[in-house]
Amino acid sequence: MGAATRGPGAQGAGAQGAGAQGAGRQVASTSSPGAGGEAGERAGDGAYLDLALRLAASVRRRTSPNPWVGAVVVAEDGRGRSVVGSGATEPPGGRHAEIVALQAAGEAAAGATLYVTLEPCAHTGRTGPCADAVVAAGITRVVVGVVDPDPSVAGRGLARLGAAGVEVTVGVRAVEVAEQLAPYLHQRRTGRPFVVLKLATTLDGRIAAPDGSARWITGPAARADGHRLRADADAVLVGAGTVRADDPALTVRTAGDANVGGPAGPLAQPLRVVLGRAPAGARVQPALELSGEPATVLDELGRRGVLQLLVEGGARVAHDLHAAGLVDRYVLYLAPALAGGDDARPAFAGAGAPDVASLWRGRMVEVTRLGDDLKVVLEPTATPGSIGAFEAEEG
Ligand SMILES: NC(=O)c1ccc[n+]([C@@H]2O[C@H](COP(=O)([O-])OP(=O)(O)OC[C@H]3O[C@@H](n4cnc5c(N)ncnc54)[C@H](OP(=O)(O)O)[C@@H]3O)[C@@H](O)[C@H]2O)c1
Repeated sequence: MGAATRGPGAQGAGAQGAGAQGAGRQVASTSSPGAGGEAGERAGDGAYLDLALRLAASVRRRTSPNPWVGAVVVAEDGRGRSVVGSGATEPPGGRHAEIVALQAAGEAAAGATLYVTLEPCAHTGRTGPCADAVVAAGITRVVVGVVDPDPSVAGRGLARLGAAGVEVTVGVRAVEVAEQLAPYLHQRRTGRPFVVLKLATTLDGRIAAPDGSARWITGPAARADGHRLRADADAVLVGAGTVRADDPALTVRTAGDANVGGPAGPLAQPLRVVLGRAPAGARVQPALELSGEPATVLDELGRRGVLQLLVEGGARVAHDLHAAGLVDRYVLYLAPALAGGDDARPAFAGAGAPDVASLWRGRMVEVTRLGDDLKVVLEPTATPGSIGAFEAEEG
């Protein structure tokens, strides 16, 4: 992905932060384009942003509702460039990634370059605006992955840097950063969580037998992967029908799978949400019980700071969210099994596409074999609106 030096209206891909445009005027231009292949980007910038991406990934499940950000301070001396400080966002209430990296660099930050996946903040939190700390540390160049669409930032961090004479380059590894921060960017732009719908189905698309039993359609590897999805989520949602049929606990269970919790220890459990009512004795309790239109429910969860929501069914809930175009990612676990009849529960209960031209079509972003099962990850090819929003492009 090419980079762009901040100028009027310039923005990194995937970072359409409201209000960012005008702020760019105050940002100094990069003077030596070309070494990295694009205006503003220099040789080595991508590699340092890659390092910042890896640092951010290491705290992926521990910063919400704050974004998981990585930062690297690189200084130059007579022998070349070297990393003098690095860091990632601390758990809520802790330091932002830039502050961790700057404090690690100490005096070596003077005259150095800061690489950071997300625009430094401009608002006063626990440690004051990061943009001011960057200037105070004597950083002379900042390379940013994407602009922060949060209304309290939205280009203001870059503007502060530019006003202080710091050279700013935006958009290096923008696609990768936008992918890594997709739940955060989505929630800040729309006010709603990034919705992941997970369903375990037979190869003929059924999620439960006619008697309502669904445990277990898929094998242990697929189920363990489902727990990783829960660990990525701030909230897990099911319909009241699933509570009645399966009485799920919806907790993240790390036992026997170090990949879920990671070396830093147990994770906070996701908020458990039921559409409709759950009996007092249900294993999902204490749960947040919500009702109403799917979009209204998502608005409420967004207000509560939920960045990523995992929806675990059932058929009615899956249909309603899908039909409203509110699913951002579909994770299907497909078992080598066939229900073999139309009396088993379909994955989506309710009216679907009326004809082939109206089929919902997405793109497969991942196909993985998990034990005997297949994991297929689908994403919309365009901004979802409703069933039929993806009419065959070729006509
Ligand atoms: N294989 C899988 O991945 C998987 C995953 C989950 C579930 N399942 C299976 O799917 C079946 C359950 O599916 P289902 O379609 O019957 O149930 P469901 O989708 O889990 O829940 C539907 C119910 O939730 C409540 N509800 C849904 N939307 C609501 C809203 N916006 N506001 C208020 N209440 C709302 C209503 O409850 P009331 O009826 O109380 O009004 C509705 O009848 C079970 O057999 C389960 O085993 C399979």
